[in-house]
Amino acid sequence: MTIRALVFDAYGTLYDVQSVLAKAEALCPGKGELISEVWRLKQLEYTWLRSLMLEYEDFWEVSRAALNFALRAAGIEPNPAIREPLLNNYLHLDPYPEARVALSALDGRKLAILSNGTPRMLQALLSNSGLDRWIDTLISVDSVRAYKPHPSCYGLVEPALGLARTEVLFVSSNGFDVGGAKSFGFEVAWVRRAGAGGHQSMFGMLRGRAEELGHAPDHTISALTDLPGLLPSSQ
Ligand code: 2OP
Repeated sequence: MTIRALVFDAYGTLYDVQSVLAKAEALCPGKGELISEVWRLKQLEYTWLRSLMLEYEDFWEVSRAALNFALRAAGIEPNPAIREPLLNNYLHLDPYPEARVALSALDGRKLAILSNGTPRMLQALLSNSGLDRWIDTLISVDSVRAYKPHPSCYGLVEPALGLARTEVLFVSSNGFDVGGAKSFGFEVAWVRRAGAGGHQSMFGMLRGRAEELGHAPDHTISALTDLPGLLPSSQ
């Protein structure tokens, strides 16, 4: 089947969620790494819990609650002077270093984002980073009030793009997202960056590895710049 669109996950795939680390370290000296890692783990856990509990809160609120948890776990009372700058950093995350070159090489193809982020968060992130030059369609799970990997989230892509799932290459670094997208029926590329999934830290072991969910990706690449090589030039 011909691939007619590439649909990217945002946080962790195009944008480096650990780019909050410098601010976390400045605000909470000696605890920045711990806080940013617990924050990300808890943020994802809360998306799954909220979906299962049928008590949807949008991704901004989920991120705030997860940050409260991470700060308290590190022994810091989450007052607004610490919490708000960290949360607002989510609107200014750094794209991965190769993202602009990769998107530029894909210019002319249909490029979209499917993310847990709210429309407001994604629009701000895209325009603050300049990636809106290449990505024209933002699809937020907010309209189905559930989080990835619920199939209703991936189901937003076909009507938004007017394409069948078999015509979509879905791109994610997040193992759970790879499993969910593959289970839904997309062709899937897993971005497994060098250094991710190492044994050095619990975060690396938990977040950088393939999940054991029985849905292997079609492609495993080490950077977004490997994507053009997956597509015949005529596609
Ligand atoms: C995203 O939906 C999974 O957080 C990731 O952008």
